[in-house]
Amino acid sequence: MKLEMKLNGKDVSFEIAGPELLLDLLRDNGYFGAKRGCDNGDCGSCAVQVDGKSICSCIYFAGQAHGREVTTIEGLGTMEHPHALQETFVECGAVQCGFCIPGMLLSAKELLDECPNPKDADIREALDGNLCRCTGYTKQFEAVKVAAKRIIEGKSKGRKPARGGKSR
Ligand code: FES
Ligand code: FES
Repeated sequence: MKLEMKLNGKDVSFEIAGPELLLDLLRDNGYFGAKRGCDNGDCGSCAVQVDGKSICSCIYFAGQAHGREVTTIEGLGTMEHPHALQETFVECGAVQCGFCIPGMLLSAKELLDECPNPKDADIREALDGNLCRCTGYTKQFEAVKVAAKRIIEGKSKGRKPARGGKSR
């Protein structure tokens, strides 16, 4: 089957043989930002966006993404043009080992796209599918609040989508 999608803003196509998972397709093609954690839809470390909604790519067939727009962490920002959330996660000390961070950032982005001025409960709900073994969540929670304020005030350095790093 020929699978076509818009991936991080670019039209791409892949040949897939069968019921391949989106997480495998992405990682086999160099998009290592989505992480394999529980492999069961529970931890959120594999989260990517499909048509603007965060999904767990470990339980989502690649074929389901045909004709859709997929965004991975590689498409969220770059070193030169980080997304406001990437800026504030670093500034607030919300990143430790980093394993959960790609999924958490994409969940937070979905929230801010839909709800630019979220209440505390909105942030908790948006991040409740993303497990973190390091941080205790407080700093990540704070980082989302600061990013929301920064986006509203137009103070972010930039959010130019592009394919970026390849951390595994
Ligand atoms: S690896 Fe997909 S939800 Fe945990
Ligand atoms: S920063 Fe280590 S799992 Fe979240």
